[in-house]
Amino acid sequence: MTADTPAPTAPAAGRVAGKVVLISGAAQGMGASHASALVAEGAHVMIGDLQEEAGTALAEKLNADAGRQAAAFTPLDVTSFEAWTAAVESTVATFGSLQVLVNNAGIYTPGSVADATIENWTRTIDIDLTGTFFGMKAALGELRRNQTSSIINISSIAGLVGFKNRAAYSAAKWGVQGLTKTSAMDFGPDGVRVNSIHPGSVETPLTANLKRGFGQVPAGRAAQVEEISALVLYLASDESRFVSGAGIPIDGGETAGNNLRQDS
Ligand SMILES: NC(=O)c1ccc[n+]([C@@H]2O[C@H](COP(=O)([O-])OP(=O)(O)OC[C@H]3O[C@@H](n4cnc5c(N)ncnc54)[C@H](O)[C@@H]3O)[C@@H](O)[C@H]2O)c1
Repeated sequence: MTADTPAPTAPAAGRVAGKVVLISGAAQGMGASHASALVAEGAHVMIGDLQEEAGTALAEKLNADAGRQAAAFTPLDVTSFEAWTAAVESTVATFGSLQVLVNNAGIYTPGSVADATIENWTRTIDIDLTGTFFGMKAALGELRRNQTSSIINISSIAGLVGFKNRAAYSAAKWGVQGLTKTSAMDFGPDGVRVNSIHPGSVETPLTANLKRGFGQVPAGRAAQVEEISALVLYLASDESRFVSGAGIPIDGGETAGNNLRQDS
């Protein structure tokens, strides 16, 4: 927080009013959009990311827009369990508790098993899969204490179907789905819901340089970040209190079936 951070005010109204959320990889892209949507609906949001400057600037903007101390930045490298522990502690110290964890940080590396480099395999599994495991492990103590908690793991359609030439990414994102379903079984009795969401193509810096057509997508286009944030907001809120262990595609219909139209 900075000297410009507005003083704490009475709790805001909204669909997630009073909830404290920690989002990994929230300095840009989808994570930044989730932070903005959650703050607009009354949450307190801790932005965890490697990018300190962008993350701090986003927190300041969200605070100014909300007119309350709604967001803060904490440095986080999701491949470090110690960094996760510090991020959870910083969230509780800043906002008093933690009810929602969004495991969003992720990278995307190319290559089939034949040509993916071992370095890219290891880095992708470390960030996309082990980072999610570390986040859940570090946050569980606080999440269990609150009894109405929600973990939202950001997978991909690459975690629902095979994904040509993306061996490491697909393996990591399928792993996130398995970790999600298993954890929903393990922690449901403690009041912690665990779900994964599986976006198709979304317009973010991650996909800015990818060239692809949308002939295989019934909706015929990529998603805007706000469309994914709407699902994150629902899963963070108590509106979804009976939803756990779900892996929800949000892909314009891309994985609904075999679309025989040519990609265009
Ligand atoms: N964009 C898409 O089309 C798409 C589709 C499906 C799933 N996803 C998934 O959604 C998530 C967000 O994707 P995006 O498109 O917004 O990506 P992005 O590249 O725009 O943002 C990713 C963020 O994660 C942060 N990050 C990277 N490594 C980190 C680490 N080790 N520790 C902490 N933070 C780290 C980056 O600094 C960045 O702010 C990812 O998990 C991605 O796999 C994206």
